[in-house]
Amino acid sequence: MYKRNPSYVILFIALFSSFLFFSPSSAHNKSHQASSLHKSYKGIFSKIYAFGDSYTDTGNAQLLAGSSYTNKPINQSCDGRLVIDFLCESLSIPPLPPYKSTSANFSSGVNFAVAGSSGFAGHKTSHPLIWKEESANLQTQVAWFKKFLEEVECKGKTTSSCQAELENALFWIGPMGVDDYGHSIWSSISHDMRLTEMSVHYICKLIQTLLDSGAKYIVVQGLPPVGCLPCGLSSSPMHDRDKTGCAATANSAIMIHNQILQKKLADFRTKYATRTILYADYWNAYMTILMNPTKFNFQEPFKACCGAGGGKLNFNFSLLCGSKGTSTCDDPGKYINWDGIHLTEAMYRQLANLLLNQGFCQPVFDKLIQNKSGM
Ligand SMILES: *[C@@H]1O[C@H](CO)[C@@H](O)[C@H](O)[C@H]1NC(C)=O
Ligand SMILES: *[C@@H]1O[C@H](CO)[C@@H](O)[C@H](O)[C@H]1NC(C)=O
Ligand SMILES: *[C@@H]1O[C@H](CO)[C@@H](O)[C@H](O)[C@H]1NC(C)=O
Ligand SMILES: *[C@@H]1O[C@H](CO)[C@@H](O)[C@H](O)[C@H]1NC(C)=O
Ligand SMILES: *[C@@H]1O[C@H](CO)[C@@H](O)[C@H](O)[C@H]1NC(C)=O
Repeated sequence: MYKRNPSYVILFIALFSSFLFFSPSSAHNKSHQASSLHKSYKGIFSKIYAFGDSYTDTGNAQLLAGSSYTNKPINQSCDGRLVIDFLCESLSIPPLPPYKSTSANFSSGVNFAVAGSSGFAGHKTSHPLIWKEESANLQTQVAWFKKFLEEVECKGKTTSSCQAELENALFWIGPMGVDDYGHSIWSSISHDMRLTEMSVHYICKLIQTLLDSGAKYIVVQGLPPVGCLPCGLSSSPMHDRDKTGCAATANSAIMIHNQILQKKLADFRTKYATRTILYADYWNAYMTILMNPTKFNFQEPFKACCGAGGGKLNFNFSLLCGSKGTSTCDDPGKYINWDGIHLTEAMYRQLANLLLNQGFCQPVFDKLIQNKSGM
């Protein structure tokens, strides 16, 4: 069943070597690492709107859980804070409340991100089905955003004063689709371009909606190397490995996704020259850590902290973190991976540092800060 398409293998090699030669010099400065990271960007933005999947969700899926929106244990997507939380910290604004939290104070922004709706039944289904659900997930967030503008943010305001509000906000689009890519069985499918194009297409629709609403500062995260996660590794055959020990097929699909996404962002920049649109290079930030884990205080680059089965990955799709028979490691801070699919707080902290302070956004995050503060 497993077959390789030679042309995409070549594309993969091309993409992979371009990654190998990309290494921001600042990332090699050991004194930049660990502990308390961020520069403080206090007072630059007072409001953030966030979108994404379980990598960015700070509670929406959990609040929806009762309504059978999701069928997986969503409580345990991390042992602590996410990249979005560290972003809020460095901007000195309160953690973003999830949109579904009815009692929240949304004066510093809203988190619309919601963990993947496909659930774990998803990994047994075919791709087109998974992506239908993924698009539903994204459309839900767009609908929530519009509803929020109508009922809260812009209520009783003129169009121009509403637009002015949005112009001053930071829009953060976390990775979209890790859940779904993570649930794919890489061994049984060759890479399907339609899948990637569709996923980028929906992200672009979201970006367009934001631009149309007046958004001026937008950061779009790429996808992490899903082939380096226990879920990606365990669902691909042993011979399907790249130089880093990650699942080659899964990673090549992710790289193509990120490559297409960056091209689309370049088009948006051309078309909207007065807006600031950044690509947050999650892939290279993750790989920088993975290639030198001990520098970032990690001892377990591949093994899930919470899971079952032990061994190299401590991961079993039928026994996910939180279910009976699973256990949690003593020191999640030494693990990159939390539950086989999501990352630990320690890893999100390092990633946030690389993205915000160490040049892993393109253009760099400081440029966005400069533009916002009129410097
Ligand atoms: C590393 O970063 C520290 C703190 O930012 C700086 O003082 C030092 O000069 C840097 N070292 C190198 C080799 O770049
Ligand atoms: C999930 O969170 C809720 C509320 O915090 C809690 O009641 C429930 O026991 C948790 N479920 C799991 C599987 O941990
Ligand atoms: C919401 O939070 C802001 C500052 O974060 C505060 O000024 C405001 O009074 C709060 N609103 C309510 C209703 O608590
Ligand atoms: C900052 O704003 C200027 C003027 O609008 C724009 O030309 C420039 O491209 C922006 N910088 C970035 C990094 O987007
Ligand atoms: C995963 O867990 C299931 C359910 O306990 C078990 O039957 C199966 O053998 C496990 N798979 C592996 C590879 O350990």
